Amino acid sequence: MMSLDLSEENIPITELHNVSVDKVLNQMDQSMVYLPSYRELYYRWERQQWSTQDLDFIYDRVHWEDLLPEEQNDFIAALATFYQGEACVTDALGPYILAVPDEEMRIFLTTQLVDEARHTVFFDRVFKDVLEIDHGRLEDTLAMTRQYMNKGAQFVLLDSLSDIAERMRKDPHDLKLLIEGVVLYHLVVEGMMGLAGQKTLLDQYRLENIFPAIRAGLMGVTRDESRHVLFGVRFLRDMLAQDANHARVIEAALSKYGPGALEALTPPQERIEILRSQNEDPWKSPRYARESLRKKLKVIGLNIDLAFLPTLPAL
Ligand SMILES: [Fe+2]
Ligand SMILES: [Fe+2]
Repeated sequence: MMSLDLSEENIPITELHNVSVDKVLNQMDQSMVYLPSYRELYYRWERQQWSTQDLDFIYDRVHWEDLLPEEQNDFIAALATFYQGEACVTDALGPYILAVPDEEMRIFLTTQLVDEARHTVFFDRVFKDVLEIDHGRLEDTLAMTRQYMNKGAQFVLLDSLSDIAERMRKDPHDLKLLIEGVVLYHLVVEGMMGLAGQKTLLDQYRLENIFPAIRAGLMGVTRDESRHVLFGVRFLRDMLAQDANHARVIEAALSKYGPGALEALTPPQERIEILRSQNEDPWKSPRYARESLRKKLKVIGLNIDLAFLPTLPAL
C-alpha cells in the first residue's frame, strides 16, 4: 500500500487505484492549516500530471458486464452527473480567467482549465470504452446523460454555472460577481458536490475491489479537484482580508447555491430505502459536503450559521 505524501509525490496514475481517497482529502485538509500560495498550487499541478491515455479499461469492462441491469443503471446514473458536471465547469471557467485581479491567480486558473478538459475526456472515455454509450459527438453523448441528473444537479451545474459565466463575461471587472462565482464554482460545485460524490464512489468501488482504471482516473480527478478547491479557499480568504464586507456576498451565494448541491448529492427515495435496509447511511455524501464546507469557511475566516442548508436526518 502506498504511504507517500501526495502533495509532494507524483504517484503514477496507474498506481492511484491502490490509494485511499481519504489520503487525498486529508492532505487537502492539512494544506488548509497553511494555505498554499497560488504559485505553490501551480507547482503542485506541475508535479501531479496524468494522462487519460495511460488508463486501460479492460478489467473495468469485465466488471461492468458482470453487473445486473439495475446495477448498470445505477452506475450510469452515478457517472452521468460527473460527466456533465466536468463539461459544465470546462465551459464556465473562461470568464473567471479574465476576471481575476491578479496574474498569479490567472496562471493557476489556466492549469485548472486544462484539468477540467482532461476530466471531461476521462468521463467521455468511461462512457465509450466501459459503458459503450457513444452517440457520436461528445455533445450528443452528454445530452443523453442529462436525463440522469436530479433537480439540484440541474440547477447548480446546468443553470447556475452557465448563468454566472455569462454575467462575468459581460462584466469581468465586477469583483462581487467574481466572488459569487468562486463560491459557486470552487466551494459548492467542486468542494461540496465534486469531492463528496467522488469520495462516495471511490470508497464503494475500492471496498468491492472493482473498476481499477475508473478508480485510478477518479483519484486523478480528486487530486486535481483538491488543488482547485484550495485555490477557491485561498482566493476567498484573500478577498475577505481585503474587505470584510465581502462576507455578505459569500453568505448570499452559499445560501443561493448550497441547498441545490445537497439535493444533487441526495439519492432518490427508492435508493434511500435500499441503503437503509442495508444499514448504510443514505446521506453520506451530503453529510460529508456539509462538514467539508464548515471546515473551509473556518479557514476562509467566516463564522456563519449553515441554517440555510437543509437539515439531514440523524443516523
Ligand atoms: Fe474537474
Ligand atoms: Fe475542478
